[in-house]
Amino acid sequence: MDFEGFLREITPTLGLQWRPFQRRGIRRKIKQRMAQLGFSEFEDYASQVKRDEGEQGYLIRIMRVTISRFFRDFEVFEVIKNSIFPVLLQGKEGEIKIWSIGCASGEEPYSLAILWREAFEKKCPGIQLHIMATDVDEKMIQRAREGRYKKSVLKEIPSQILEHYFKKEDGWYRIDPSVKPYIQWKGHDILREDPFLGMDILFCRNLVFTYFSKESQIDTLKKLFLSLNDRGYLVIGKNESLPLTYPTLFTPMYSREKIYRKV
Ligand SMILES: C[S@@+](CC[C@H](N)C(=O)[O-])C[C@H]1O[C@@H](n2cnc3c(N)ncnc32)[C@H](O)[C@@H]1O
Repeated sequence: MDFEGFLREITPTLGLQWRPFQRRGIRRKIKQRMAQLGFSEFEDYASQVKRDEGEQGYLIRIMRVTISRFFRDFEVFEVIKNSIFPVLLQGKEGEIKIWSIGCASGEEPYSLAILWREAFEKKCPGIQLHIMATDVDEKMIQRAREGRYKKSVLKEIPSQILEHYFKKEDGWYRIDPSVKPYIQWKGHDILREDPFLGMDILFCRNLVFTYFSKESQIDTLKKLFLSLNDRGYLVIGKNESLPLTYPTLFTPMYSREKIYRKV
């Protein structure tokens, strides 16, 4: 059995797809793990993984991709600002609730908080923005709370926002504390746990519809449907698509930006 065969064999057990994990880094990590446990053949390690839930958890952890960026795919944030927030705000009182699923080290939820502060906070004093930001990896949540970033994740930020919301410190950029109160951080596994309810917008980008198996995608899509208020919005990644069963649950609103509305 070669590496591709190994991935095809074990990823369904992990609830994942095999294709996105063919990268060299993952192969190296898996080979290292096999050496550590005394396996030289992929076939033998695959049998062990299938038997051992602990080993499945270990593999899921080393196969996680945690890359993100502030204002990733900037045009998506433009649509949120110019078209979606204005619709949600019509006749709205109280609060707008957003859930950022797989929030990595906080780049996406902080971008949303900045956008709100810049464009709506003063105009809409009666409305509160609540962002629930979750990730299965507690280390990422800790980093998100800390709010310290390398320059590489800041390249899509307009310069005046960068100057206003980030302070340079020993080669790092620290996020301004004014954006922190909008966000509640939580460890949460979207594959295995129930969804949070009552959301107006879900950001579920570059996770479920890239890495999860087709079965897990369909199960998760149902959770996303439950999580949203009537006619709430679902945002997925620019290079992602929903499973074919989606039209009973969602309708496309902004096709290029991959924004859907609950039917
Ligand atoms: C590639 S990052 C995407 C970050 C951000 N959504 C974006 O588009 O820039 C995927 C994130 O999902 C998290 N993740 C992986 N499996 C998860 C799961 N089952 N439940 C929740 N988060 C998960 C990873 O820890 C990682 O931080």
